Amino acid sequence: MEVPDPGTVPSLFSASRQDTSGRPAYGSSSIVKVPRRFLSFLLLTCAVLPLVSSGARSPAVALQDPSPKIIRGSIADPSLDSKVETLLRKMTLDEKVGQLVQYSAGQPTGPGTGRTDYKDMIGKGQIGALFNITGAREVNAYQRIAVEQSRLHVPLLFGLDVIHGFRTEFPIPLGLASTWDPVLVEKAARVAAQEASASGVRWTFSPMVDIARDARWGRMAEGAGEDPFLGSAMAAAYVRGYQGSRLDALDSIAACAKHYVGYGAAEGGRDYNTTEISEPTLRQIYLPPFHSAVNAGSASIMSAFNSLNGIPATANPFTVKQILRKEWGFQGIVDSDWTSVAELIPHGIANDGATAARKAFLGGVDMDMVSSLYHDHLANLVQGGQVPEAAVDEAVRHVLRMKFALGLFEHPYTDETKEAAAMLHPEYLQLARDAAERSFVLLKNSAGPDGVPLLPLSGVRKVAVIGPLANDSANMLGSWAGLGRREDVTSLHTGLVSHLGKENVLHAKGTGISEGSDQEMADALVTAQKADLVILTLGENASEMTGEAASRSKLGLPGRQQELLEKIVATGKPVVLVLFSGRPLTVPWAFEHVPAVLAAWFPGVQAGPALVRTLFGESNPSGKLVVSWPRSVGQEPLYYNTLNTGRPANLPDSDPKFVSRYLDEPNSPQFPFGYGLSYTSFRYGPTEISGKQLKASTLNAGLQGGKEAALTVTASVTNTGQRSGEEIVQLYIRLRGTSVAQPVRALKGFERITLAPGETKNVSFTLAPDALAIWSDQNRVATEAAHVTIWVSPDSAQGSPAELEIVP
Ligand code: BGC
Repeated sequence: MEVPDPGTVPSLFSASRQDTSGRPAYGSSSIVKVPRRFLSFLLLTCAVLPLVSSGARSPAVALQDPSPKIIRGSIADPSLDSKVETLLRKMTLDEKVGQLVQYSAGQPTGPGTGRTDYKDMIGKGQIGALFNITGAREVNAYQRIAVEQSRLHVPLLFGLDVIHGFRTEFPIPLGLASTWDPVLVEKAARVAAQEASASGVRWTFSPMVDIARDARWGRMAEGAGEDPFLGSAMAAAYVRGYQGSRLDALDSIAACAKHYVGYGAAEGGRDYNTTEISEPTLRQIYLPPFHSAVNAGSASIMSAFNSLNGIPATANPFTVKQILRKEWGFQGIVDSDWTSVAELIPHGIANDGATAARKAFLGGVDMDMVSSLYHDHLANLVQGGQVPEAAVDEAVRHVLRMKFALGLFEHPYTDETKEAAAMLHPEYLQLARDAAERSFVLLKNSAGPDGVPLLPLSGVRKVAVIGPLANDSANMLGSWAGLGRREDVTSLHTGLVSHLGKENVLHAKGTGISEGSDQEMADALVTAQKADLVILTLGENASEMTGEAASRSKLGLPGRQQELLEKIVATGKPVVLVLFSGRPLTVPWAFEHVPAVLAAWFPGVQAGPALVRTLFGESNPSGKLVVSWPRSVGQEPLYYNTLNTGRPANLPDSDPKFVSRYLDEPNSPQFPFGYGLSYTSFRYGPTEISGKQLKASTLNAGLQGGKEAALTVTASVTNTGQRSGEEIVQLYIRLRGTSVAQPVRALKGFERITLAPGETKNVSFTLAPDALAIWSDQNRVATEAAHVTIWVSPDSAQGSPAELEIVP
């Protein structure tokens, strides 16, 4: 298989430049404020005008310099080399192996914990890392054994799944991604790092950057959705936020991009299931977010549970050694997932523990999480000549590098006196509320009998808040909620009471999430009758139905919730439906019969205030979908960037029968990727491009490190409504005539802009050559002659096209 030289494989995530506010723009894009009368003139000349800030706001949490390649203070810092080599030379084989062994010592997050005699093992230098321990005191107690009792005093690494906050829980990652706001996500990750590090955690198993195209897969909740471009932006944002400007700052934690790779393509959406992914799809869809995380300096990568084209990802030299190490030059730790080394046996590529350890290790996995097989077999495998000691040295280098980079040798302990005061700062809570507000996606908001959309609510005196999630705290935290506590959460009910007064808020559960009684249902109907309006809260149980091991074969409302929905609507009261879920839910009845529907995901500790501000119009919804919303489960896997097939169903003159479609469901989603409404409305001008023809040869030269922008794409966006709003402007392309078929649309840029009523801005994207390149039939990145359609649009299904030719 031909592969490009390391360093010449461009990330499909185009390099971003900064606007004048210091914020990275994605695509890259710039915004120009346009007085109406100058619009047509500026459309022609906008490329030379000065840039202005998008006006995007998020509360004050200080960020570090977001330069994409951080060298000093990172795992790539060359000054680490000599420290690592000096220590490595002193180590016995057993001590080396010890650095590659990791166990869970607290609340388990998978089956079993490997062993329990950790204290003894740490003293003997047999453990390199522990995880799931929380609290500075406990962390310090284990660390003291490593530093004071082990022969070489090598500190332990302490890890935890800090996924969307540590104590201050932010929206689940799917919600955070729905903000399309990487600066905000970076700030949220920074807050998580500050709180986690105060508790002794210096390594998080995050970000989860798996592309998720199938809503049946519960882990969709943990990632940034279905798109590699947006996923790449989010991946880098998390890494920058966690790791700060220097890993050795005491409030920085090392990132771990996971699960490498293809885990989200689990067949049938069933967790841990097999994946089959062609190389072009792997290269263009599944790998880019990982590459982006690596470019942003991610100190570690976690190998996935799934088998990929028959080779488990935890023993896959092609993805780990060839792509990650050789092509991308990754120098950090490759950690296994929980017992994924031992799982090579049920996968069927090893019949005993020694073989599993050998295959994982030679496949490039440095550290064994929980399975204990490296501890049991690696030294013997070296002594028996089946694993070269040089390979062990190399793996140990990766671990020691990270420990030195984190400054653990200088500062192994955490200051226990500062831990409590580090949590839940007011500015963290404000950021959590802002993140929640921006994560909400307004799916429907139709006019009532008076011709006015139901939302935002005004003039409502008495509200009934009904449903299993109305006065809920625990579920608001989402899955993988770190150290989030339900008592830190403000529920929707509490938020409504503070806004409207106790006497104006009625409450009834109606049903539980999975089951409910006739009496509860009857009480809810009586309650609804007493109010002017019903806010109905329906959805999933966050910890049982979303996240790991939470695949669903049905995507509707669980239990009796559909029945409750229909009965409440039948009361004739106006209904606002708030959906809490870790995935899109197939509720077509609701979209037909309920006037206003808001997707709230699981919003975190500030759920209540954020929802109240949104429902009553203090905050204008601006989130957009990062996953295609299905009409029915039979459409899954469902994603916008699909290939066209030879018999697409949407051609005007296509045969009505012999086309790629379902007999009983449209192909289109309920709501497309990128979709989301606002309380105002936006009008898009035509898509304008800076040239009509480009040469493939010039673009290919640009791929070899050239910095020339290939093309500028511009469209005007006008706020045509009565109130200020934020809009996420998206840039898509389609290539036709290439050696490997390309998606019907692919996101290549986005920008969040703020527009006052009547205001117009020109949004201008600069496409780098790599945005037009593909993974070709020659197994390399190349730009080929093609016909290109380009849209600047509010979502993946709209926009006026501009046409470009790439000639040889
Ligand atoms: C999950 C990982 C997680 C690990 C440690 C595994 O079961 O797949 O995402 O980081 O457990 O908790």
